[in-house]
Amino acid sequence: MTEQHTPHTHGWEKSAIVTFIAIGLLFLSSILATVLAPNMLDPSWTDSSSHYQVQMYEVSDPNVYIARALPGSANLDYVNHIKKDYTLLAFVETDNMRILAPSELERYVTKVGEQELKLTSRVLLLRKPAGSTAVEAEKLRKEVQQKWETSHPNWKEKDHPRMDYSIMELFDPHSDEAFSLARSEGFLEHFAASNFVLIDGPKQPYHHDPGVIYLENPEEFRIRRVSYGDLKGVKYDPNGEPIKDIAELTSPDIGFICRQKLITMGESIYAAEGCYYCHTDQSRTLIQDCVLNGSESFAAPPSSGNEYIYQDVTFPGTRRIGPDLARVGVKRPSRDWHKAHFWQPKTESPGTIMPSMRHFFDDDPRGQSVNQIGVPNYRFEAIFQYLMTKGTRITPPTQAWWLGKDPLQTTEIIEGRKRIGAS
Ligand code: HEC
Repeated sequence: MTEQHTPHTHGWEKSAIVTFIAIGLLFLSSILATVLAPNMLDPSWTDSSSHYQVQMYEVSDPNVYIARALPGSANLDYVNHIKKDYTLLAFVETDNMRILAPSELERYVTKVGEQELKLTSRVLLLRKPAGSTAVEAEKLRKEVQQKWETSHPNWKEKDHPRMDYSIMELFDPHSDEAFSLARSEGFLEHFAASNFVLIDGPKQPYHHDPGVIYLENPEEFRIRRVSYGDLKGVKYDPNGEPIKDIAELTSPDIGFICRQKLITMGESIYAAEGCYYCHTDQSRTLIQDCVLNGSESFAAPPSSGNEYIYQDVTFPGTRRIGPDLARVGVKRPSRDWHKAHFWQPKTESPGTIMPSMRHFFDDDPRGQSVNQIGVPNYRFEAIFQYLMTKGTRITPPTQAWWLGKDPLQTTEIIEGRKRIGAS
């Protein structure tokens, strides 16, 4: 009975059907695209490109950190969280420090002059020698001190450099996790490229990667509770009580916060201070980026998507009034450099227009206090920790995903095997 329809309505119905089918197809194809597209991507864009990166994200970051200020004091304390089978530890004697160890632990100590670094994923700690070991330690201290004095007959003279030896004791706290004192200067993890031996064998796949991350000489963190009037807090004390767990460490009365939170806080500060007006956070494939952003030992790879996956907000930026910051953790790893630079950028770089960030120091939010002494506060630690994630989470140079994909052959140019412009 199609004759009953006027040609007009018939045409309208047909176009409606076509429209609906088209909408349906579009909808379906967008779903298909969403489902299929991730499989088409170069996996190196989204997957972690090595065990090394997994280690940086999942093992190292959550375990090394935590800062706290005693109420009323400007000082921050630092603690490392050590986990059995995850954290790699080294116990290294230095020029003026010797390590006493019971015979079963002696093989974990890297003695003075030993080239190969000994690493372990067992939880062991150093402490000031106590009990019977204290006597033995004092004997050893006198012995090495004497030896040094004999070999430096002029040591008593004015201006002659002096050596004061200290002795530490290596012990097993018999636990699966522990908290160790972290010197503020030793905040960054150390990297061992190749010259190391893992005692007791690898516990995690990344423990065998070139460029493992380890903590050097962790010292047990023990606390004593203190109060000044109304203020209550805790202090590091070698004879105090050990911390039981993370919950205790981060409880309000002790008040440590983890490095991951500091990094997130740093991200907010970066936004609030408008650092992105003057800085970009993306290393391009251009040779100038690879060279300028590189470290002494290797050229920086261009930024890839997976570097930002743990960030809530990213700041690619559009203008470079200051240098790009995508690799600043590798380029400028020194905490002291950043302290000086944020306190007064002109001391590091005369003529810079970067504003000084005095409010990253002391307790004075506006930086107007006359008796400022430049002790970094949370803001400094947060922005510093945030900056230190930049470029330090990439693949080690030996396994870099961009090797062989770099059309400019940056490494060859840097190493002088190729000249810019020559093919
Ligand atoms: C008004 C523009 C401006 C703002 C805003 C600014 N900077 Fe800078 N920044 C610069 C300039 C210019 C330099 C280069 C000279 C120097 O080292 O100070 C620089 C250098 C740096 C460097 C050293 C980089 C390197 O590779 O040498 C760091 C790190 C840095 N800025 C971090 C920050 C952070 C973090 C913020 C926000 C809290 C910030 N900057 C805000 C202009 C700015």
